[in-house]
Amino acid sequence: MEEKTNWLDYDVEEMVAGDKESLWHHLKPHKVFESQEQMIIVEGKGLMVKDIRGREFLDATSGGVWSVMVGYGRDSIADAVCAQLKKMPYFAGVFGNIPAIKFAQKLLEKLPRMDKVYFSNSGSEANEKAFKIIRQASRIDPARKGKYKIMYRDRDYHGTTIGTMSATGQAQRKQDYGPFVEGFVEFPHCACYRCPYGKTYGSCDIECARKVEDVILKEGADTIGGLIVEPITAGGGILKPVPEYYPILQEICQKYDIWMIMDEVVCGFGRTGTFWGHDHYDVDPDIITMAKGLASSYEALSATVVKQKVFDTFLNDPSDSEKRLNYFRDISTYGGCTSALTAALESTRIIEDENLVENSAKMGAYLNEQLETLKKYDVVGDVRGQGLFAGLEFVTNRTTKEPISEEQMAQLMGNVMAENVIVGRTNSSFDGLNNIMNFAPCLIITKEQIDTIVAAVATAIEKTFS
Ligand SMILES: Cc1ncc(COP(=O)(O)O)c(C=O)c1O
Repeated sequence: MEEKTNWLDYDVEEMVAGDKESLWHHLKPHKVFESQEQMIIVEGKGLMVKDIRGREFLDATSGGVWSVMVGYGRDSIADAVCAQLKKMPYFAGVFGNIPAIKFAQKLLEKLPRMDKVYFSNSGSEANEKAFKIIRQASRIDPARKGKYKIMYRDRDYHGTTIGTMSATGQAQRKQDYGPFVEGFVEFPHCACYRCPYGKTYGSCDIECARKVEDVILKEGADTIGGLIVEPITAGGGILKPVPEYYPILQEICQKYDIWMIMDEVVCGFGRTGTFWGHDHYDVDPDIITMAKGLASSYEALSATVVKQKVFDTFLNDPSDSEKRLNYFRDISTYGGCTSALTAALESTRIIEDENLVENSAKMGAYLNEQLETLKKYDVVGDVRGQGLFAGLEFVTNRTTKEPISEEQMAQLMGNVMAENVIVGRTNSSFDGLNNIMNFAPCLIITKEQIDTIVAAVATAIEKTFS
């Protein structure tokens, strides 16, 4: 075999075989790899990615899970991280570092009603911190005594750990991983297309929000300390609550002193055409979690951002032997590492300097308009979205809304890929409802690229259902 001079050089067949022999991929049934090859992505520039066989794809998913906000191949992020690594690569988050201070300040500038930033590595971890905050507050704050339970919404996803799975409303994602953690309480979703109360927006009383109070009272309001929601449900099928929803939910939370946790892991950093997903609503959460777009996924980073009242709960007097342990006793080896924060600072500078949130709003409107044209196909039951975040729900019958089968959905996805475009879908999440295709391209997308994506989906629909 030819001698490689640079560790970045590789032999294609050796890597393909190496993938099969050594890797256990995320969310994949591996039996398929007995007869088919795993795609290995090796390069990216802008919205284009290239695989190891040299095939090029237009990526409409920002890296598969909606997170590469500024696109691939940003040298300035790589250069900034390189310089920081040479100067100071790592010291634990029990001490301060310059990129952490600067990025925390940047986040608080973007969230003027919030006060303190706690860094970690992933969306799941950011949500775990929020849950630990609620739990500990229910033990150390006399006013919150016993309020340890956390409510979550059906169809929302909050992470992969056992704790965050316990707060996730997706039956197939949870299947076989129980028993789950005690103290998590589900309430109904708010998807108008399949209203859990059989109502229609315009003639309803926003029951999806109002009836959360019934769940609280049934469970015991004095036991509930937190309620977590995604501003716009992502993996659950791109579900955007109506404008009245969050103000009503917040009023209920405030009535019972329940801290609202807004999971901005997907929606934050311009995905929906505003900087934060919850900017579309008149709502003021107590805790906000974020990850993915924070450093455009050039590095792993997440954050849990809280209001002063939450932080103050943990300001114990260390000389008081009874309260000695009443501070937030949490640590994360890589949380707040210098290189991730440097990447986040540079990615956010790009988002600001290139007006990418504005582009997300403008191109998002165009994307949604173009996707609407696909309603000419009877299988497209619903088109929904906000900014550069959109979903198409596929049905066999528009009146009964019966979803297409798993096989048809898989075939449809394969046919889009055959057009050299990568889109996403609800995947092993729900019994019978894995029928939603999703779009979340990098925020730098152009009209021409949107046309290419929509044309690929149209061709795939015709191929699959003709
Ligand atoms: C809304 C939401 N919250 C949390 C997470 C978990 O993030 P991570 O995969 O970084 O742990 C995800 C992941 O997709 C998500 O969509």
